[in-house]
Amino acid sequence: MTMDDDLSRIGISLPKHLLDRFDEILNYRGYSSRSEGIRDAIRTYITYYKWMSDVKGLREGVITMVYDHEQRGLLTNITDIEHEFHAIIKASLHSHVSHDKCLEVILVHGDGSQLKALAERLMSMKGVESVKLNTIQIEE
Ligand code: NI
Repeated sequence: MTMDDDLSRIGISLPKHLLDRFDEILNYRGYSSRSEGIRDAIRTYITYYKWMSDVKGLREGVITMVYDHEQRGLLTNITDIEHEFHAIIKASLHSHVSHDKCLEVILVHGDGSQLKALAERLMSMKGVESVKLNTIQIEE
């Protein structure tokens, strides 16, 4: 058996809409319990973080971000962050997806650590639903 036998119990608070969407996905994917789904989500999060840690050296990439533009102050904060990282941002494309949702694609070029720093700053903002960073290595 694995070390997963040693279980810890945690309590978490979530917005209802987030939990509803999570349950929908669990249902669709045929998970037997929420706990199983949450364990899987945490493993995916850890894998993604490890993958992000491997983004090194000179890179060209794309950050894809979805956010709620009605979140108070978010637009200004995003603009401030993008100006702070102006040296690595080559272009960005904004799409007003719906009444409250925005999709932004940011083309980036620079050191992997900088690209990750930008993605992580954006990810930490309240009202940002998702941030994905995809990069390719550039021959130096
Ligand atoms: Ni928009």
